[in-house]
Amino acid sequence: MSLLLSTWSFSRPEHESAFARLGPGADPLDAAMHVAEAVEADPEVDSVGYGGLPDASGGVSLDALVMRSPAEHGSAIALTQVRRAAAAARLVMEKSPHRILAGPGADTFAMQHGLPAEEMLAPAARERWEAWRNDPNQDPGQRPWDSGLGRLYRNEGGHDTVCVLAQNDQGLAGVCTTSGMPWKAPGRVGDSPIPGAGLYVHPRYGAATITGTGELVIGNCASFSVVESMRQGAEPSRAIAHLLELVLAEQPVKPEDQLGVIAISPDGHWAAGSLRPGFKYVVTDEQGTRVDSPELVIVDEPIPETAS
Ligand code: GLY
Repeated sequence: MSLLLSTWSFSRPEHESAFARLGPGADPLDAAMHVAEAVEADPEVDSVGYGGLPDASGGVSLDALVMRSPAEHGSAIALTQVRRAAAAARLVMEKSPHRILAGPGADTFAMQHGLPAEEMLAPAARERWEAWRNDPNQDPGQRPWDSGLGRLYRNEGGHDTVCVLAQNDQGLAGVCTTSGMPWKAPGRVGDSPIPGAGLYVHPRYGAATITGTGELVIGNCASFSVVESMRQGAEPSRAIAHLLELVLAEQPVKPEDQLGVIAISPDGHWAAGSLRPGFKYVVTDEQGTRVDSPELVIVDEPIPETAS
């Protein structure tokens, strides 16, 4: 049985064509990459790739991680010239003896392996950054809310990631790619490219990946902890609930923070959950493709319109 699961409705357009790449013997990473790369290239998506909102200095920096197993993963961090962050991460995994490359070296490595240097800041993202820079009193809160229109931010601020998990007869694979937090301090890196934080895949125990405020989940090794719960016998929904309850208990969660988690067990059970309402996921299986909100929502209060 094949399965494709991803975060946010903006990952919907390429789901069917990606699912078609999950036939017998196919590499599930190819299907996951197909979804992730389409989102990275879409200038309407303001939290990933080319459309991503920049840091406080107006510079875009992109982070990504791809993973098949604890022995097979690659991260590209703080890319400032190469837009195709997921492809750069896959090159690190497949063509380098390392697991993580960051900064100018990551760009250079990706370009040496054929990825182009491109304009990183989309015109709409530049306009929104200029508006933010010209209005220092602007509410800097993060409030991702998926209304199905591609853009997640009701106000300026927020950050969210496209995370994709794919499964077929060859096993599991995952991709996580992001432009990180808008108006972030230059140099800031979130959870997405950190193995075990933004994404973790273990062929025998399952896969999990997270979107939302990276600062809340790095310290809990969040994706690893969801897979570890599954290793101990928890169903994916229980493993996600355990992680989100732990974050709520231990981290300085603000009203505007959001987390969305998706997970698949090796036997094909899957689940999605979020800290608050407003998160959507996309799933394709033999029954077709659905965009849905998770039943598992830990805090019943929506993200406020204005920061407290
Ligand atoms: N979850 C994406 C980030 O915090 O950068």
